[in-house]
Amino acid sequence: MARRTKIYEGKAKILYEGPEPGTIVQYFKDDATAFNAQKKDVIEGKGVLNNRLSEYFMTGLAQIGVPTHFIRRLNMREQLVRACEIVPLEVIVRNFAAGTMSKRLGIEEGTQLPRPIVEYCLKNDELGDPLVTEEHIAAFGWASQQDMDDILSLALRVNDYLSGLMYGVGIKLIDFKIEIGRVYENDYPRLIIADEISPDSCRLWDIATGQKLDKDVFRRDLGSLTDAYSEVARRLGVIPKSQVTKPTLIN
Ligand code: TYD
Repeated sequence: MARRTKIYEGKAKILYEGPEPGTIVQYFKDDATAFNAQKKDVIEGKGVLNNRLSEYFMTGLAQIGVPTHFIRRLNMREQLVRACEIVPLEVIVRNFAAGTMSKRLGIEEGTQLPRPIVEYCLKNDELGDPLVTEEHIAAFGWASQQDMDDILSLALRVNDYLSGLMYGVGIKLIDFKIEIGRVYENDYPRLIIADEISPDSCRLWDIATGQKLDKDVFRRDLGSLTDAYSEVARRLGVIPKSQVTKPTLIN
C-alpha cells in the first residue's frame, strides 16, 4: 500500500498530499536535469542540500515579511508547504547577463546590467518555457494586472534579499528563477513565493575567483555539483564549516 498520495512528480521534486488539508509535502530528489531534460543524471546528496537551502532562503524571506509557501522542514529530504495554485510563469530576475539573455542579446556573460531585469517565461516543458511579454500574460489571462504588479514587487524584494545575503558570503547573484503561488485568505487571493529557491534555480559566482557554484556546474560539466552546493551551504552556515567530525566528549 502506498504510504501516501502522490500529487505530482516533476524533474527535481515529488509532491505528496500533506497531513492536513491545504498542505503538501515537497520531496527533493537527487535527479538533475538540464536543457529541458535532454541532459539527466542522479547527483547523490543534491536533494538534501536543496531542501536545507530552500528552507533557509524561505525562512529568511518570511522574517523580512515576504510571504512564502514554506511551513516547516520535516526531514532530510522533505518539507511541509502550503498548497497553492501555481501561476503558470517562471519569473526570472537578472542582475548580470548570463545564459539565454547573453545568447539572445549578445551580451558577454557576467556583464552587469544597468538595473535588475525581470523576465517571464510560460511554464510549458513541451514548448521549452518560452519567453513571454506582459501583453501575452494579460491577453491570455495567465495573471491579472494586479497579480503582475504584486509579482514584480515580490521578485524585486527576493532579489534584494538574496543578493545581499550572497554578497555577504562572497557570492555574486547573477540571476534566479522563482515561481509564484496563489492562496485564498477569507476568499481574498494573495500571492506568495512557492516551489523552491536553491542553486538549481540561481546562478551564483564566487566574487573572488568567478567560480560557478550553481547548476551550470552540471549543465557545463565543470566538476562536482554537490561540492559547489555544499560550498554555498557552508558559507551561509546552513551546514557546518568543517565536514570532518571529531569525537566529542559528552559529560
Ligand atoms: P536562463 O538563462 O533564461 O536559462 P538557462 O538556465 O536555460 O540558461 O535562466 C535564468 C535563470 O533562471 C537561471 O539561474 C536558471 C533559472 N531558470 C530555472 O531555474 N528554470 C527555468 O525553467 C528557467 C527558464 C530558468
